[in-house]
Amino acid sequence: MTQTLTHNISFPLTEPGALDQDEAFFHLFEDGVERRLRFHDYGPIYQRPGLYEQLFYQRLQCASPTKAVDVLGKVLTDNRVEISSLRVLDLGAGNGMMGELLNAARVVGVDILEEAKQACDRDRPHAYDAYYVADLTSPDPKVEAQLKMWQFDCLSCIAALGYGDIPVPAFANAMNLVQDQGWLVFNIKEDFMRSGDRTGFSRLIDALMRLGVLEIHHLERYRHRVSIDGRPLFYFVVVARKVADVAPDVVDRAMRP
Ligand SMILES: C[S@@+](CC[C@H](N)C(=O)[O-])C[C@H]1O[C@@H](n2cnc3c(N)ncnc32)[C@H](O)[C@@H]1O
Repeated sequence: MTQTLTHNISFPLTEPGALDQDEAFFHLFEDGVERRLRFHDYGPIYQRPGLYEQLFYQRLQCASPTKAVDVLGKVLTDNRVEISSLRVLDLGAGNGMMGELLNAARVVGVDILEEAKQACDRDRPHAYDAYYVADLTSPDPKVEAQLKMWQFDCLSCIAALGYGDIPVPAFANAMNLVQDQGWLVFNIKEDFMRSGDRTGFSRLIDALMRLGVLEIHHLERYRHRVSIDGRPLFYFVVVARKVADVAPDVVDRAMRP
């Protein structure tokens, strides 16, 4: 990144635990104006150089991209695969925090927000070989055709599943862009892996494991970051091998509560 600005931000006085991750907000003071932004207001956050890093990495101590790359590296070493040989699709790429750590043959970013691509072009132009602004929930056939041409053998998806971010069908479509025997590294909030989860990820991952579509190589609970009131937020990091495509009926069933 070329520049780190220190933004004038403050966190509100709230009851501990009162706000869920997607409700949490902060105040931004700029040019004499106070704005209230949610942590998930990614567009305005990405538009301000350094604000995403200041919030999530300095204040909230997000550890996930380094954790994911570390765990992926260990699994690949155990399986005698060089990360430098992989062609990686980084889904929910944001401003490139994950992409810049992946020392792979090709790294291609996809994000739903134009502001994410602009922030990445501005702050980490070296992170990706290509960056697509797309929603893989129902991808534009032209974008899908281009993505297929990259012949991915690895999918990364960090800090982007659930919570109104990437839904099950988009994740499944991204998995299906990865060749069989390819690798997956993703993280997910521990609640979304439990029964009773409403995002559908718990049912999807259960089904994929049962059907032998996913071969789990590493599953670890770790501290993703702290919450706005300083509580640890635990996620699972998963490294898996994709054995076959995800069938549409598996996605449909995962989406049904
Ligand atoms: C918390 S950020 C994570 C960014 C990056 N992976 C990181 O670790 O810093 C979540 C990203 O997911 C993106 N996102 C949300 N819904 C999406 C979707 N349906 N398809 C692609 N990206 C999506 C958001 O725009 C945002 O950039």
